[in-house]
Amino acid sequence: MDKANAKGETVNELLKAEAHVWNHIFSFINSMSLKCAVDLGIPDFIHNHGKPMTVSELVAALPTLNPTKARNIYRLMRILLHSGFFEQQKLSQEDGYVLTDASRLLLKDTPFGITPLLKVMLDPILTKPWDFLGPCCWNLRLQNRASEPINTMWDSSITHTWLQNNDSTPFDTAHGKPLWDYACHVPKLCHLFNEGMASDARLIINVLIDKCKGSFEGLDSLVDVGGGTGTVGKAIAHAFPHLNCTVLDLPHVVAGLKDSGNLKYVGGNMFEDVPVADAVLIKSILHDWNDDECMKILKRCKEAISKQDKGVVIKKNVMIVDMVVMEKKKVNDGSFNLMETQLFFDMLMMVLQTGRERREEEWAKLFFAAGFSNYNITPILGLRSLIELFP
Ligand SMILES: C[S@@+](CC[C@H](N)C(=O)[O-])C[C@H]1O[C@@H](n2cnc3c(N)ncnc32)[C@H](O)[C@@H]1O
Repeated sequence: MDKANAKGETVNELLKAEAHVWNHIFSFINSMSLKCAVDLGIPDFIHNHGKPMTVSELVAALPTLNPTKARNIYRLMRILLHSGFFEQQKLSQEDGYVLTDASRLLLKDTPFGITPLLKVMLDPILTKPWDFLGPCCWNLRLQNRASEPINTMWDSSITHTWLQNNDSTPFDTAHGKPLWDYACHVPKLCHLFNEGMASDARLIINVLIDKCKGSFEGLDSLVDVGGGTGTVGKAIAHAFPHLNCTVLDLPHVVAGLKDSGNLKYVGGNMFEDVPVADAVLIKSILHDWNDDECMKILKRCKEAISKQDKGVVIKKNVMIVDMVVMEKKKVNDGSFNLMETQLFFDMLMMVLQTGRERREEEWAKLFFAAGFSNYNITPILGLRSLIELFP
């Protein structure tokens, strides 16, 4: 390789590296552009239009848009086109936008819509803790100390961010309380969170009931631990009318929810007691907690299924719905995004909760330490899996 080529390649590598860094610096723009489009109701306007919608038709449909900002809608649509939320179809004069599978999930009235999840995850209450993750930055300190004389603003002992302090999570550092305590005092967050989780639960429980019917058959009772406002519980109670389904969650979450038919709500604490049942379902719970906390929950779940003694042994188990982080060596190009999303969730659990996303070996260690003899992983839920534990 001659000198010129070597230099050329180095420069190209450098520019490629710069592009990579820039892409990551600005990745939040994907989330914020998507949030803006959803807040404007763009997926619904396009859906209700019934045919490909041009940008001028879209602009005309947006009721709160200041006319001087109209040109910017094209720019918003262009990035969302690029990131796969819309497609363009040829019309006689200009191209029209249509929805993709991803933006169909962001319609307001769609059975499996996940707009509420987007709204809670991108709400400033949940994004603020990211500012408290790494070593403190000047504007953070400036903000916190704005009322003080200018010469004390730079005292490095003043503000410690999460990696430097003793708080259990960056959420705690940002808001002064762990997430569940805070949610219990801030009805807006509690409501947004419950709605977000319910929207996620609708899709997953339908797939679970459809693909894993056998796991529920033969059971007389099931308790959904940390079951929120009962989206999963209701779907199971409806699909299996002979199964008595109990939803256990914190008292303020289930307060006012009415039992009906084979579904009942119990306010309690999963670290202390889980109602007795043939089976326990525990969806999107264990990833919120660290290993010691998970052990406590799993032990309560094991006690709950072990206390039920009817003489005839039916298949007692604990069903977990959570992620099993992919092994890097097994990730091919097609699943790169899946693994990245799992790693996003792992960071999210670090920032909001004390938990983490676990690899199979990490799960197995936890299950055996909590006294289960065997487990089975069925990876049929996209990013998540059904993990069945046997006593
Ligand atoms: C991430 S949400 C999952 C909700 C539901 N399982 C789902 O997937 O839609 C976690 C749930 O755990 C509940 N939770 C937190 N601490 C709890 C505790 N100590 N006992 C019972 N439930 C708890 C929260 O109120 C919340 O509803």
